[in-house]
Amino acid sequence: MAHLTVAGFEIHTSYLAPDAQHALLDALRQVVRAAPFVDPVTPSGKKMSVRMTAAGQYGWIADRQGYRYAPQHPQGTPWPDIPESVLEIWRDLTGLARMPECCLINYYGKGARMGLHQDKDEASYDWPVVSISLGDDGLFRMGGTQRGGKTQSIWLNSGDVVVMGGAARLAYHGVDRIRFGSSTLMPKGGRINLTLRVTT
Ligand code: SIN
Ligand code: MN
Repeated sequence: MAHLTVAGFEIHTSYLAPDAQHALLDALRQVVRAAPFVDPVTPSGKKMSVRMTAAGQYGWIADRQGYRYAPQHPQGTPWPDIPESVLEIWRDLTGLARMPECCLINYYGKGARMGLHQDKDEASYDWPVVSISLGDDGLFRMGGTQRGGKTQSIWLNSGDVVVMGGAARLAYHGVDRIRFGSSTLMPKGGRINLTLRVTT
């Protein structure tokens, strides 16, 4: 386990040991059973390459109506609870009593990516966003608070956790590409990223 800070992004490499990664994946399988992955589209109708679901009081939704936090899965059911093991990571790394209300679950299959963006749909930007990576390596790009500014990239590996707080809370970030099949964690390959957010 090591800890480095890049442009305000706090990167905890190998935060989760392999057994903890497997346990977390098992907990996520339960979540996905109740709240299956959906293929989100942008408000302009463009299909996003990541598949998404969520746990917690709110899930983040992208569809023709826009981007927002919603209390129900598009299938009309409440989101499953955030697994206790996930909340434990939040507590350990943030030290906060306030708990996240959304655990967004992104699945990156072959060729999936996420464009540079800011996380701006939350009611307050005073709380950090915590991002947990599982499975295949992902090339994570980090910038500043202005679009078009200088960026730096690092490969996030399975078990790495990034805390985006303070100056990095509203910083641009994205995933350029994944190395499909680089991890043995998930038999069929791919990358899972969890982001924990205080939304209200
Ligand atoms: C996100 O910004 O929602 C995901 C970041 C990542 O996949 O590492
Ligand atoms: Mn984001």
